[in-house]
Amino acid sequence: MKMNKTLESLASQVNSMKKFGDAIVFERISDSFGEKGERPDLLIIGEAPGYEEVRIGKPFVGRSGKLLDKWIQIFGIKDYVITNVVKSHPTDAKTQYNRKPTDEEIAYWKPVLEKEIKALKPKAILCLGDVAYRTLTNSSKTITSVIKSGLRFDYNGIPVIVYFHPSYLLRNKDYDWKPDMLKIKDALDSLKSQSKL
Ligand code: URA
Repeated sequence: MKMNKTLESLASQVNSMKKFGDAIVFERISDSFGEKGERPDLLIIGEAPGYEEVRIGKPFVGRSGKLLDKWIQIFGIKDYVITNVVKSHPTDAKTQYNRKPTDEEIAYWKPVLEKEIKALKPKAILCLGDVAYRTLTNSSKTITSVIKSGLRFDYNGIPVIVYFHPSYLLRNKDYDWKPDMLKIKDALDSLKSQSKL
């Protein structure tokens, strides 16, 4: 697949960017940059790669990714790209466990995400979790309140849908996400019928 030139240079920029604390840089970020070409129907934005993602070099390949795959199947969308706000693996220096990205880390990577969106020109965006939501909106609303109110917004003219991060739902096993997925599918179908996808 022909690489998008802007994304290609962004990928090499990312690989030379510094890491935070002992965060591990997602060295093979280029794997997820532009491999599905420009103007994907959907850009899915997560938080940050984890251990498995860094090992394999692709976003969402671990347990969260398996759940995300089920959701994508429900949406019935084939032309999508998955990325993260933070391109390095946030690890706790002492425990070596995953940690939440810091505000400083998010601010550091935000311009990369902005350039990525500009170059990809997705027809719609799905924000997974509060980090992705806050990065696109600068809002301090909680993700739960945003999802409950069904709030949708535009990011530079691109329709954005917000949902919980899959890892949150893996920790809250009693929560039935299926009805939510059907609602998101409806929203995507409606964009499709307006020829926005
Ligand atoms: N969680 C994320 O937000 N991104 C990944 O790539 C994997 C898990």
